[in-house]
Amino acid sequence: MSHSVLVLYVTGAKTGKNYFIPVSFFEHSRGLLTCVTDKPNIWWRNLTSIDAINKVKNKKNLKNADMYVTLEPCFHTGKTKPCVDKLIKYKFSKIFYAEKDKNPLVNGKSIKKMREHKLKVYQCDIKDKEFNLNKIFFNKLLLNKPYVTLKIATTNDYMIAQKNHKERWITNQLSRKLSHYLRAKSDCMLVGASTIIKDNPLLNCRISGLEKSTPDLFILDSNLILNKKLNIFKIKNRKIFIFYSNQKAKKLNVIPGLKYIHIKQKNGKLDLNLVFNKIAEIGYNSVLVEGGRKLNTSLFLEDSVNQLFWFKSSKKYGSNGIFAIEGQNSTMKDFISKFRLINKQYLSDDLLKTYLRIN
Ligand SMILES: NC(=O)c1ccc[n+]([C@@H]2O[C@H](COP(=O)([O-])OP(=O)(O)OC[C@H]3O[C@@H](n4cnc5c(N)ncnc54)[C@H](OP(=O)(O)O)[C@@H]3O)[C@@H](O)[C@H]2O)c1
Repeated sequence: MSHSVLVLYVTGAKTGKNYFIPVSFFEHSRGLLTCVTDKPNIWWRNLTSIDAINKVKNKKNLKNADMYVTLEPCFHTGKTKPCVDKLIKYKFSKIFYAEKDKNPLVNGKSIKKMREHKLKVYQCDIKDKEFNLNKIFFNKLLLNKPYVTLKIATTNDYMIAQKNHKERWITNQLSRKLSHYLRAKSDCMLVGASTIIKDNPLLNCRISGLEKSTPDLFILDSNLILNKKLNIFKIKNRKIFIFYSNQKAKKLNVIPGLKYIHIKQKNGKLDLNLVFNKIAEIGYNSVLVEGGRKLNTSLFLEDSVNQLFWFKSSKKYGSNGIFAIEGQNSTMKDFISKFRLINKQYLSDDLLKTYLRIN
């Protein structure tokens, strides 16, 4: 259709129905395409390597076929049996993989085994190396933590809010649309109680057609000070988890329908490492943090952010502003020194800079 959108034509394996699915894509070398789709769209589940093989009726057609995979095929039995054995059994010719699986149960073993069985195995040269296909998966697997994306919107003089809270939005409509898209793409969100009280936000996805992609929400509220009349609790069918530490408050101030998780404190605040472990344990792989000054500061000190989206407007708040980080003067310089800039784009008069943490 264009240089970035193609239409997949699929016949449903069970229903026999024909589907036309528009997806955006990136092109890598050797004709490998990475397709990007919205979370509620589950067509891609049919394309995991073992499923793709199972769907071919006449397996003889697989002989001498090439396979392109984003991750080294699995060596171990998990939800499915080892993919590597099927590739060998059906005599595939060439396997192109994007990345070696860092899971200790795999970690190059499948590549070795395929080569021992005379399959030709090549690592694809990914053109856009920053678009790391498997980062979320590896983070969860190796660290038991979700992939943490921090979104910050600042003025041109590095403020995240006004002291008098008069102005509702710092950035323009385009930036806000993109922020809503980031919400839709995340498994869940994390915010501090203070932001909920000061801004009374909805923190949902307000892009037409993607409303159902509003992610579940985690709130840090040590003493359970939030009340049930706040806007955040008005969104239906959204799971909300509250992290708290004050056991006495739990007896007094519980809002029906929310899930409460007790977390130990570290230096007088909820321990963020335990918070992230818990989020991963519940089953979320990625989290979008929309932090106020205190939460940003803790994330920075704990070195917890994997990816940063920094939206910067052309406004200035001067002495009526609140800086993004506590104890930092104005530039976020120390914060971003731990990151590498990977993309810079203008959204009308706003600037969006995307950073990845330097490992
Ligand atoms: N421009 C932006 O990108 C953006 C985004 C979000 C918010 N904001 C602005 O930020 C302002 C609020 O910022 P804020 O600094 O007051 O609050 P905040 O960072 O939103 O929330 C901090 C609160 O979370 C709780 N908390 C628990 N454990 C914590 C931990 N380990 N680290 C940090 N906080 C922890 C604390 O309350 P308890 O002790 O009660 O648990 C703390 O007071 C608002 O004005 C809002 O408009 C701006």
